[in-house]
Amino acid sequence: MKYKELNLIDHVKCRIKSPKSIVNKMKKKKYNLTYKEMIDKVNDIAGIRIICPFKENVYLVRNILVNNPKIKVLNEKDYIQKPKKSGYSSLHLIVEIPVKTELGEIYAKAEIQIRTMAMDFWASLEHELKYKNSNVTKAASKKLLKAAKVMNKLDYEMSLLANEIR
Ligand code: GTP
Ligand code: MG
Repeated sequence: MKYKELNLIDHVKCRIKSPKSIVNKMKKKKYNLTYKEMIDKVNDIAGIRIICPFKENVYLVRNILVNNPKIKVLNEKDYIQKPKKSGYSSLHLIVEIPVKTELGEIYAKAEIQIRTMAMDFWASLEHELKYKNSNVTKAASKKLLKAAKVMNKLDYEMSLLANEIR
């Protein structure tokens, strides 16, 4: 299928977690620092972020992935239906995907985050602000939550508008 033609996806970003971040995360979560614990419990060593123009696209992309027999879905979290306390919205899939290696095909775990451009805008700025300042006040968190709701409204308005224009 030509996804570009359908305009389901604006762009995709991939990243591999650095060894240092993996160890930091494992320490923070009090995991044993073993290879087995890393493979079993750290789901986001490979991260894929799919950014869509509209909220409907998020679910279309989700369905394409979930219905792909090559992709095994281990877990799904819909923070669009039920945003996090911070205001964070996104659809998360923890999957296993076949990867070709010299040793043959192996299954690799990955965290796929599917979200709209508006959700991505909010998440990027919120992360940036919190990352560089760990003592964010309650008042500031409240404003961030309010901004998330504005983004949500914007997604809704844009979908309505798209339906109207099309
Ligand atoms: P962690 O990665 O340890 O948080 O695992 P988890 O099981 O709690 O997963 P969760 O689905 O809560 O979040 C995984 C990823 O989603 C994070 O690594 C972030 O990329 C993103 N995320 C979750 N919550 C927030 C949030 O409040 N703000 C932002 N900017 N991103 C978030
Ligand atoms: Mg978390």
